[in-house]
Amino acid sequence: MSGKALYVLNGPNLNLLGQRESAIYGEATLQDLETRCRAHAATLGLEIVFHQSNSEGELIGWVHEARDKASGIAINAGAYTHTSVALHDALRAVNLPSVEVHLSNVYKREAFRHTSFIAPVVNGVICGFGVDSYVLAISALSALISANKKG
Ligand code: DQA
Repeated sequence: MSGKALYVLNGPNLNLLGQRESAIYGEATLQDLETRCRAHAATLGLEIVFHQSNSEGELIGWVHEARDKASGIAINAGAYTHTSVALHDALRAVNLPSVEVHLSNVYKREAFRHTSFIAPVVNGVICGFGVDSYVLAISALSALISANKKG
């Protein structure tokens, strides 16, 4: 492993993965998701710092912390994706390679999920592939870091 870790940040209700609306979010638990992220990152020579919080303030704190400690951020902000100007501002301020991630295809769902406050301040968005969305996001971050492209 070399360089700084990737921060993989998870927002509200994602602690209930595997128990919550499994037809939409799948059977994998948050622990399964973390294990998969770590294993994939290791194949790319990257380390992961993995967090989940139901609190917007705590997520913002981790984005700020990433400024010094991370080489990139993958963030599934859950429902805060669709509401949080504060997370938008935090990601903009940090200016690291960053990817917005969702398990579900938010564009196939309710109209209120079609707006993202995160998308304008990240390099790209990956949604709709379940746990593989995170795997794809980690690969994308690895490529962005190699190319030295910021969010
Ligand atoms: C989600 C999609 C959001 O709209 C929702 O509020 C979530 C999960 C996803 O991973 O598909 O909590 O971010």
